[in-house]
This record gives sequence, structure tokens and C-alpha cells, in this order.
Amino acid sequence: MISSKTSAGINGIVKIPGDKSISHRSIIIPSIANGICEITNILNSDDVIKTKTAFLEMGVKMEEINNKLIIYGKGLNSLNKPTKPIYLGNSGTSARLLTGLLSSQNFDSKITGDKSLTSRPMGRIADPLKLMNAKIETLKGKLPISIYGGNLNNARVKIDIPSAQIKSGVLLAAINTAGKSEIIENNITRNHTEIMLEEFGAEISIKKLSEKKQIISINGKKELKSKNITVPSDLSSSAFFIVAALINENSNININNVNINPTRSGILTALKKMGAKINLINKRKINNEDIADLNVQYSQLNGCELNSDMAKLMIDEYPILSVAAAFANSSSIFRGLNELKVKESDRLELIRSNLLNCGCTCNVKDNDLYIDPISKNVKNVMPRITTNFDHRIAMSFAVFGSKYGKVQIEEADCINTSFPSFKNEFNKAGGKLY
Ligand code: S3P
Repeated sequence: MISSKTSAGINGIVKIPGDKSISHRSIIIPSIANGICEITNILNSDDVIKTKTAFLEMGVKMEEINNKLIIYGKGLNSLNKPTKPIYLGNSGTSARLLTGLLSSQNFDSKITGDKSLTSRPMGRIADPLKLMNAKIETLKGKLPISIYGGNLNNARVKIDIPSAQIKSGVLLAAINTAGKSEIIENNITRNHTEIMLEEFGAEISIKKLSEKKQIISINGKKELKSKNITVPSDLSSSAFFIVAALINENSNININNVNINPTRSGILTALKKMGAKINLINKRKINNEDIADLNVQYSQLNGCELNSDMAKLMIDEYPILSVAAAFANSSSIFRGLNELKVKESDRLELIRSNLLNCGCTCNVKDNDLYIDPISKNVKNVMPRITTNFDHRIAMSFAVFGSKYGKVQIEEADCINTSFPSFKNEFNKAGGKLY
């Protein structure tokens, strides 16, 4: 449990750890490439450690030298059969990506996870892989998953659910499958896997069919060549500090080296639409990912309406965006949030119930979220925030408390899933978490 008190302002240079999505891929892809990869600024959080442990258990040699992770990759078919089920804790990204990768390896394996992960849908990754002839058994569409690995058939796979995890799982199956596989994505989602595979020499090409639809083609069984990676700071983790600075008077922060990949940066668009003073400085590319330094200042925010297309570009940021909406000058509507229900928790319900519990008027209708700004007169005394062990709910309401006053956040250890240094950094910047 942590408690939060009102802050007098969030200030200074904030150090945000490495991007979680890119960190997972920085372990997975070099482990099946040829050569040595030196990774700078990889996120050292519970989720990423689960991916790392999985590959260590499959015989990949890794070393940590001077805060860098070195991975010695030996090729597409160099992994060893794990001697026990692979335990992936809370990490949906690890589970979906590894299911794809392992389905085209020449050994059988089993994947399991914690209470939250074993309740999340896995049919969404198993079903498209079955179109490539993958042999996968789920427990009624959930973990544990048994994978009977072997040669798959190249195929044309259409993905209707907007999910980078599904797309990436299929890509990692296709990379070790002879011939050309095609993935038709009906909603454009984060493209870190495509970027990194291309950087590592994969024969991959992308054809846009419309603004939302694209075909990703990949020619499998071509060995990858390793390359050093610098992991940028995570925009999803930065978002907690960005919103904290926006809602608290006398705030001014800088965050350097932030990933602003346009398939991920919807939160910046949304907050700017609300009137946020966010400046992107020194835009550049590292490992073909878009990077910038951010300056954020306290701003009077207005509410806003976001359509469902925005959800794909900022799916993890709705909890913290909802906190911004609670302190805005007018009402907000965020549409098309059905995918929020199958995250580490049912985030749509936890946003609604926790904001309601804090005296905010908040409703969900047909997967659309309606938030009225919080009225100063209806504050509850020290509300308790239910997190259901969801890291993003915990951090969002820690930020909420910095403006609202005292709140107590249950099961706050879950923050280690993505941002172990959160409390320290927040307090260094002027937050009051204890
Ligand atoms: C992720 C994709 C998203 C996101 C998750 C990380 C990834 O999940 O919510 O935190 O690294 O590919 P979905 O693919 O389920 O939308």
C-alpha cells in the first residue's frame, strides 16, 4: 500500500526507464539472431525479467557488463527445449510473442503465468497461428498453453483485433517459416517488432492499403544479423509525469530520449487537444525509432472527445488520461475502449469505480467512457484505490493523489511490473508518495 498527498509542483529532469515494449523485443529478437547484441538502457522490471529468464532457460547466453545487457545470439533454430513450463508472471506481451515464436521451433513447450495473465484471452494469438498449422492447446482459450512446435506453413493471416501482441506473435512465427507469409492488419498498431526485424535484416515489407489497413509480408527462414540497441525512454511511463506536471500548478519538467513512435504517441495528441503545453525538442531517430526530448508545463486543461481510432494509438494511457480529464475544465468522452477490459485488469471498470469512489462523475456506456471534472465540494476523505494488482492503475491514481489530496493505493508493489523506480522519481520531482 502507498499513500499520496498533494504536491506543490512537479519539477526538474525526470529519468524515465527504458520502453517496455522495445525491451521485450530487445531480448527476443537478438536471441534468435546471429551475433552479439549490446543493449543500452533496457528496462529492468518484473515483466522484462520474465522474458529474459525464459530465454536464459532456453540456453541463450547473456551477460551484464557496465549496465548493458549483452546477448549472444546463435540463429533462428538455436534455442533449447525448456526443461520446465515457462512462467511469464503478469506479462501479456511475453505470453503472446513467445506463443508465436515457440510454435515454429522444433520442440514442445508450455507457457503459464500469474492470476491476472491466466485469466486473459489467449485464443486471440492461438487462432491466427493455427492458420499456419501451429499445434497449440489452450485451457478454454486461456493459459496454460501447450505448444507442439514444428515446421509451420506460410499463410495469409488476417488480424481483426487491434493488437500489436497478436501481430508480433504471428511475425515471430513467420520469421522461422519457409516462404512468404502475409499479415493483414485491419487496425494499425505499434510497430516496434517490424522496425526491429527490419533493422536485423529480415526480408519484411509493408504495403498500406488505407489509412487503417496494411499488409505486412515476411519471407521466413532467412537468418537475422544482430545489431546493438539503445532502448529509448518509455512514453507510457513518461505519461504519468506528463500528466502530473500538467495538473499541478508550478510544474515544469523535462524528459529526455522519449520514444515518440507515431503508432504509440496518441497520448501526446490527446493531451495537446486538451490544451497541454508539451514541447517536443531535438527530434531524431535511434535504431529507426522516433525519439524526442519533452518539456511539459502546468496547463489549464479542457475536456475532449476522442474517437475509437485513438484507442489503438494510446491503449495503455487511458487510466492516466482519465486522471487528466478528472481535473480538466469540462467533460470528456473517450470512445471505443473495449480492449481496456482485457488488460492486466479490467481497466475500464477500475477507472470508473475508482474515479466514482473519489467523488467524480464517471460513466461507461457501450465501451465509451464519460468523465465530468471533479467538483471541489464532493471530495471523499482518503479514498482507497483498488488496483487489482494493475501497475498502470496504481501509478495513475498516485498522480491523481498529487492533485486531489490524500488517497491510499492498494497492492502498490505491482508498479514493479513496468516502473520499479516510480516512487523515487516521483518524490524527487516533488511528488508526495509514502
Ligand atoms: C504491447 C501491446 C499492447 C499494449 C501492451 C504492450 C506490445 O497490447 O497494451 O502493454 O508490447 O506489443 P495489445 O497488443 O493487447 O493491444
